[in-house]
Amino acid sequence: MDLNPTERRWWLLRRARGELKTEFVGRKVLHFEEVTSTNEVAKEMARRGAEEGVVVIAEAQSRGRGRLGRRWISPRGGVWLTVILRPTISPEAALRMQFITAVSVARAIEETLGLEVEVKWPNDILIHGRKVCGILTESGLRGGELEFVALGVGINANIDINAFPEDLRESVTSLREEAKHEVSRRFLLKSLLANLERYYVKFLRGEFDQILDEWRSLTSMLGKRVVVTNLHEKIEGEAVDVDQDGALVIRLDGGPLRRVLSGDATVITIAEPRRT
Ligand code: BTN
Repeated sequence: MDLNPTERRWWLLRRARGELKTEFVGRKVLHFEEVTSTNEVAKEMARRGAEEGVVVIAEAQSRGRGRLGRRWISPRGGVWLTVILRPTISPEAALRMQFITAVSVARAIEETLGLEVEVKWPNDILIHGRKVCGILTESGLRGGELEFVALGVGINANIDINAFPEDLRESVTSLREEAKHEVSRRFLLKSLLANLERYYVKFLRGEFDQILDEWRSLTSMLGKRVVVTNLHEKIEGEAVDVDQDGALVIRLDGGPLRRVLSGDATVITIAEPRRT
């Protein structure tokens, strides 16, 4: 394991609860050397009744999963975890959880490392335009009702960029790369879980508007021309806003607004015409 002695002690003795100032998120932390995917393990545990706030974390994932059915490369050195939550909301509203998670990750990175981060719809965290974290939220339903949400967070913490396939190296980064030093995953995790609980409680109090405002303040994509690609289509226009449901609102050419619920967004930069 690549944990330093302090980290190792922290993990092994499960001091997390003592050090962690949370009420329920991370009260129970299951730490694995390697799993297929922390989302898979957490969903299985949630189906079997695991309580709200349980965290599944792994040093490495052999079949880490990204959005839209993609693979998520998860070697040692990263923070690969899933948190189980059980909000009493509709299945449609569960999409909001990814904004809570994105703002929490952004705040945790800022707090622990002082790095400036950006969020990109739907849930990427970028530093200097490169992806440093991805979020995969999955819902468990029972009889049409939302039973649980598994919030999967993958942070490229102490990862060498060469661990990624060549074609991805331009678009990804890691915290170590950006901070120019090894980062403490322990401090990062503590801050992440504390922020997650804080924003989740705010959400339960009906303050999602404020969270969305924070998300807006962390993104640079609103007002820009974007193209969103999902499994079904490609939509191009101006990114106007994100709405209460977490949909990206795009103004199509010609004026009509279109809500998009999933996909990958790319900001289109139009080259300035050359002056002669
Ligand atoms: C994305 O495509 O951007 C989402 C990536 C989410 C990766 C995390 S790592 C922990 C959790 N377990 C998984 O298999 N995926 C998520």
